[in-house]
Amino acid sequence: MDTINWSGLPFGYMRTDYNIRCYYRDGKWGELEVSSSEILNIHMAATCLHYGQEAFEGLKAFKGKDGKVRVFRMEENAKRMISSSQGIKMAEFPVERFEEAVRKVVKLNERFVPPYGSGASLYIRPLLIGLGAQVGVKPADEYLFLVFVTPVGPYFKSGFKPVPVCIMRGYDRAAPEGTGTIKVGGNYAASLVAGNKAQEKGYAAVLYLDPKEKMYLDECGPANFFAIRGNSYLTPASTSILPSITNKSLIRLAEDMGMKVERRPIQLDELNSFDEAAECGTAAVITPISRIDDLDEDRSYIYSKDGKPGVVCEKLYNRLLAIQTGDEPDPYGWVKIID
Ligand code: PLP
Ligand code: COI
Repeated sequence: MDTINWSGLPFGYMRTDYNIRCYYRDGKWGELEVSSSEILNIHMAATCLHYGQEAFEGLKAFKGKDGKVRVFRMEENAKRMISSSQGIKMAEFPVERFEEAVRKVVKLNERFVPPYGSGASLYIRPLLIGLGAQVGVKPADEYLFLVFVTPVGPYFKSGFKPVPVCIMRGYDRAAPEGTGTIKVGGNYAASLVAGNKAQEKGYAAVLYLDPKEKMYLDECGPANFFAIRGNSYLTPASTSILPSITNKSLIRLAEDMGMKVERRPIQLDELNSFDEAAECGTAAVITPISRIDDLDEDRSYIYSKDGKPGVVCEKLYNRLLAIQTGDEPDPYGWVKIID
């Protein structure tokens, strides 16, 4: 434990002490159970294995200068997991139980919350899976809600430094009116081929275009896309992107900094009008984009030539982190202290 190099942590899995589990059987949720096993023993015909009845969430806890542990916007994650459950016909895990489970798992694993100033945080991964056995394509009658935690460093190795991304037309992560707006495992499976291809070519992520017309910007790997143009914060509206809680928070911060927010379909040909571009998400936080290479059109859009983030991205990043860690007051009621 003493040997954890907090500031050198990758975004990866590390064993912690406990996880929390809760089973849905006979039409109701049971009690929260504490487990120290990393293993699930499940039926081979469970619907999560065959028919993708699986949804997950991602949120973070931060240690403050004051030694307190704060969790960011967990109610939003709880609500999004309900929306994912509705989208793939799973039992809904109530918001209050979700918050109780998160509090409990963070408290029990408190020694794994990275120290203030290390650049690392405790990643919280709630999971909901269909456990009941089915062979026909039908929803399960039993479910498991589980939440584990693991300390993580930055999602992109570079941290808060601009990264290159690419556009590749041959791939979609979700259908135009499919499951893109919910956080289900199938969307991530569908993104693996394009994601790997992009990484092999030296890009951090794929900037997906809308799957219907390929005329508009969608989202960027496991993160939303936003851009800065003058005093405007622009971010795509689309029926195939995940409503990011980080993006929602940045929109609020941008408005409160006096910026104009435009959330609308954003045409591909607007790319050359942006001053800054970035991806945002729990894992990605804000990761500025240095360039976007359109690999089919052989065009590049450059947003950072000197390897430095843009000034607006930097301002938003500092403000978001200050609220998350408790360095600055939280006027929005976004953070909850774990005690
Ligand atoms: N888009 C996708 C596809 C994601 O996986 C994530 C990560 O959760 C996001 C966007 C960002 O969402 P959030 O800010 O709620 O983490
Ligand atoms: C998150 O940002 O929490 C995510 O879920 C991204 C992830 C798939 C690593």
